[in-house]
Amino acid sequence: MQHTPSGNAILLGKIALITGASSGIGLQIARQFVDHGSFVYLADIDFPKAQEKAQEIGANAVAVHMDICDSTQVRATLDEIMRQKGAIDILVNNAGVLAQGPFDLLSEREWDKLIAVNLTGAFNCIQAVAPIMIKQNHGNMINIASVSAFKGGGSMGNVWYGATKAAIVAMTKGLSRELGPQGIRINAIAPSLVETNMIKDALTPRIKKQILMQFPLGRFATKMDVADLAVFLASGLSSFITGQIIAVDGGYLNV
Ligand SMILES: NC(=O)c1ccc[n+]([C@@H]2O[C@H](COP(=O)([O-])OP(=O)(O)OC[C@H]3O[C@@H](n4cnc5c(N)ncnc54)[C@H](O)[C@@H]3O)[C@@H](O)[C@H]2O)c1
Repeated sequence: MQHTPSGNAILLGKIALITGASSGIGLQIARQFVDHGSFVYLADIDFPKAQEKAQEIGANAVAVHMDICDSTQVRATLDEIMRQKGAIDILVNNAGVLAQGPFDLLSEREWDKLIAVNLTGAFNCIQAVAPIMIKQNHGNMINIASVSAFKGGGSMGNVWYGATKAAIVAMTKGLSRELGPQGIRINAIAPSLVETNMIKDALTPRIKKQILMQFPLGRFATKMDVADLAVFLASGLSSFITGQIIAVDGGYLNV
């Protein structure tokens, strides 16, 4: 379905870069941003899929081939966005990978990948975007963390993944202090389990039932639950909110 904003849309005219936007949560955020008036760059390592999804969304979405682990590619993307649009208003650091299972089953290679995508990726994007936003004297960054940052892992024993997301929490808080005086807000969303490609193989009916018992609201988060908060954080409706980590978790962290 093509996405067309209304004339009073809350993100009208905003230029957004969303990483990992060819699937799951990132794609839903892209759709919602366009519905609310934004022009969105869907950046993903899976370029054919990003292209397919950008075409589905319509004229206000463009696919970019970008591996967030490669700072040269990230900088080239920003150069191209500036050449095309002359500004970047919103960065959503969404691309991420999961590693699950008990602590001793993660290989060094898997650990390196976790750090490269979940941390170095966010580092590269923030380092490339921040100087532009500082020059503009405005900007808005949204990081996708996870409830596992607070629990030290999650329902599926993913302690090392949780550690990378805890670092995202620290980045978000610290950067809000450094970037606030330059007119830049930065917040993070901490979703609980969302049924996307990332976790679909791990969710047997038995595990699903077990995990669901930990949710006071009795269901998992949807991609839309996360995307709705991203729209709010990207918009002027949240103009005095920065350095916050907001859980979208149906009460899971309070159990
Ligand atoms: N699904 C969940 O339960 C859940 C819960 C909490 C947080 N999160 C976080 O939400 C974010 C999105 O996850 P999702 O569930 O939508 O997963 P997903 O696997 O559907 O999407 C991740 C996307 O990131 C892309 N990607 C991976 N490595 C990349 C790289 N190096 N450069 C560019 N793109 C890359 C993938 O191609 C994919 O399109 C992640 O940061 C994840 O950690 C997910």
